[in-house]
Amino acid sequence: MKLTTKPDVNDSNKSENLPLADSLKGRVKSRKSYISRRSFLGKTVAIGAGTMGAGLLTSIRAAEAASGRLSPGDAALLRFPAAVELLEADFWIQYNELAGIQDKEVPGGSGNPDYTAAIEVLDEDMADYIHDNTDDEITHHTFLNAYLVSKGAAPANLDAFRTLMGSTATGVNTALIGKRLTNLTQLTLDTSWWTRYRDDRHNPDLDPTFVFPQAVPSLAVNQHTAIPRTDADTSDPNFLQAIANTAAFHFPTIEQGGTSLYPSLAQRATNVEVLRILMSIGPTETMHFQTWSDKAGNAPVLSAVDPVTGVKVTFPDFEVENELFDKSLIMPEPCPFLDRSLPIVSIIRPTNTVGAAMGALTFLTDMGLFIGQSAAFFAYMTQLADDADHAKRGF
Ligand SMILES: [Fe+2]
Ligand SMILES: [Fe+2]
Repeated sequence: MKLTTKPDVNDSNKSENLPLADSLKGRVKSRKSYISRRSFLGKTVAIGAGTMGAGLLTSIRAAEAASGRLSPGDAALLRFPAAVELLEADFWIQYNELAGIQDKEVPGGSGNPDYTAAIEVLDEDMADYIHDNTDDEITHHTFLNAYLVSKGAAPANLDAFRTLMGSTATGVNTALIGKRLTNLTQLTLDTSWWTRYRDDRHNPDLDPTFVFPQAVPSLAVNQHTAIPRTDADTSDPNFLQAIANTAAFHFPTIEQGGTSLYPSLAQRATNVEVLRILMSIGPTETMHFQTWSDKAGNAPVLSAVDPVTGVKVTFPDFEVENELFDKSLIMPEPCPFLDRSLPIVSIIRPTNTVGAAMGALTFLTDMGLFIGQSAAFFAYMTQLADDADHAKRGF
């Protein structure tokens, strides 16, 4: 909640930031024991060719076999989020290794002091928030998969796809170099959520063609790294702050997605307990989003050019009178909902359930988060999304 430095990196000196050691020491917490994941044989993925009728029958039987005591639809509504949470945890772990709290709860990294200092320009508690967000995501996929297994249903498993390089900068868990699921070094960020939640006249569910303005237009084009790729990326303070700013906008961009995904999927759950799970995890994504959207507004005003790619990025000033961009207006504006004849209301948006899982997968793919992943990865994720989108309430 506390801003440590005036947000203008071009005039600031990194040495003014709080000592890293203050935030890294003495944070040993009890380690949770995680339920190990079972191998997912991908029965619904393995459905082969055949006649249309036989293929459909095989598909239904395979889905039933994979869903245990849950309906195939309910299992799919939990399995797709479980996979997304595995992906979320993977990149949050990368952030935590470099700029979070290193402890037994989220182990593995050793911290990158320069990157951590640049991140903490936005708020002195950033390392704590990164740690706790990471911890939350780990518990999300662990719980969802454990619940699926407890019902005799197949969990989501992405272990075969842990192949991406990731950062080699000081602080990373060297045992995981070349074993990442997600790519944080080539991001293209849609930051239109910033104006979407400040606009009281448009709802993406009612105005699917309306274009909400970007908060940071230059992040919506080209590719940007949100972490130091190597130690060379930490040598120029201005570029390093641009990397930290990119991360600061990546955080809420991701978490607003989770904020919409859970209520969008929950509308088609049949079992009340499955509904309860989706309704209970979803709002924690919203808590993350709210925190990160507040911090992103503190991103120092700057322009920088990536010395490796030549790509330029510019972070504008959000201390403005314009209500669409004012950094202080972090509470959601009300907007039209369901029907324009009804009064406007403050809500999460979008929450349209049709195609919600595939929409989420497309959003993450377009972000560049999976650049370098295999065709098998996309086939697996597409199948999980498709299964979730075909779930019907009361199936
Ligand atoms: Fe999550
Ligand atoms: Fe999340």
